[in-house]
Amino acid sequence: MSTTAIYPGTYDPVTRGHIDICQRALKVFDHVVIGVADSPAKQPFFDIDERFDMLETVFADNDQISVRRFSGLLIDFARECDAEVIIRGLRAISDFEYEVQLAGMNRSLAPEIETVFLTAAQRYAFVSSSLVR
Ligand code: COA
Repeated sequence: MSTTAIYPGTYDPVTRGHIDICQRALKVFDHVVIGVADSPAKQPFFDIDERFDMLETVFADNDQISVRRFSGLLIDFARECDAEVIIRGLRAISDFEYEVQLAGMNRSLAPEIETVFLTAAQRYAFVSSSLVR
């Protein structure tokens, strides 16, 4: 059976850290859908079209990765994609608390969808979109 995972985020902009997580996710899952959240509350620096286009360019050569935008609830998007898994990257212990809350909330809304954490490669542990901006 082929497994689809979604890798959601704001990607304002995509970083090498995100790319690394996504490529490593393909060792575990057959297909990864990158979900670009519109995230209006974060007031992104790059608009949704720019963020989407950057991701499409980065992953243009990889047919196991597709890029889609979404708004609203993450679990609704996961169901739309027929995804069994949500991938999140962990860079440091400081990411943990927020990520556990997010995973817990998503599990209570959609118990059939699992959150899987992948740890960032050491060399990208301090990379973030705001630092890149
Ligand atoms: N490498 C580099 N940076 C990384 C990274 C990695 N591997 N993993 C995370 N980050 C950074 C991002 O660059 C970003 O940095 P910034 O704060 O400097 O901009 C930060 O971590 C967090 O960004 P991101 O991973 O994009 O998460 P987010 O918090 O912006 O978005 C969503 C998370 C979109 C998944 C979440 O808001 C969501 O689910 N939204 C939909 C609404 C919903 O369903 N809500 C109910 C669920 S509780």
